Amino acid sequence: MSREKIIKQHYEPRILPGRPHFEILDWADAQSQRLRFEVLAANVGLAGKSLLDVGCGLGDLYGFLLERGLTVDYTGVDISEKMILHARQAHPGGHFLAADLFAKNPFGRKRFDVAFCSGTFNLNVGNNISFLPTALRQLFGLSRRALVFNLLHRRARRQHPHCVYYEPGEILKIVKRFRCKVEVIDDYLHNDFTVVCRPLASSRVSRAAKRKKT
Ligand SMILES: C[S@@+](CC[C@H](N)C(=O)[O-])C[C@H]1O[C@@H](n2cnc3c(N)ncnc32)[C@H](O)[C@@H]1O
Repeated sequence: MSREKIIKQHYEPRILPGRPHFEILDWADAQSQRLRFEVLAANVGLAGKSLLDVGCGLGDLYGFLLERGLTVDYTGVDISEKMILHARQAHPGGHFLAADLFAKNPFGRKRFDVAFCSGTFNLNVGNNISFLPTALRQLFGLSRRALVFNLLHRRARRQHPHCVYYEPGEILKIVKRFRCKVEVIDDYLHNDFTVVCRPLASSRVSRAAKRKKT
């Protein structure tokens, strides 16, 4: 079965009227879902920036930013059209797009100040570990100032067979190949960690020059 099918078959039947968003999105509770957004907001300046939220689900990050009074040029993208329909209903002011970014980038040469993924790589689609370097490289190419993503931590006491748990050291090996400054934040939840990759100034210049040439 394709990655897209596995993801849709997992999340879409969970969308039921009145069901709390954290349950639909397969988070343990609303607090832990929100905490992941707080880690993003605490570590990256978002005000006035463009933000790409990859795997945006029901658009809860957009709601969080509004609550915080943060003015952000927000774009949410999710592989599931059904998720996007619900995100648009919940947040008519938000900009949401249905697409599998990793199969076909709908943004062309456009880049964002910050790209963020929360829970996007949680579901076991069969090849998470081999797929991650390609996906992260693509996301890094889309981000001007920071790529931020969270993953489930290998140390989690309770592990679900349909999820993938990652070792921060292994992830560091992947992102260290990018020209960026890396920070790992793993003190907010037992079962989760966040990686912040900030492109080095020299890499920003050479990437801009490369784009000019092509
Ligand atoms: C655990 S949910 C998290 C949703 C949201 N980030 C949040 O924290 O509220 C993961 C979401 O990622 C989406 N997703 C997974 N792989 C994706 C991909 N390749 N492109 C876009 N969305 C993807 C799923 O459809 C699902 O909505």
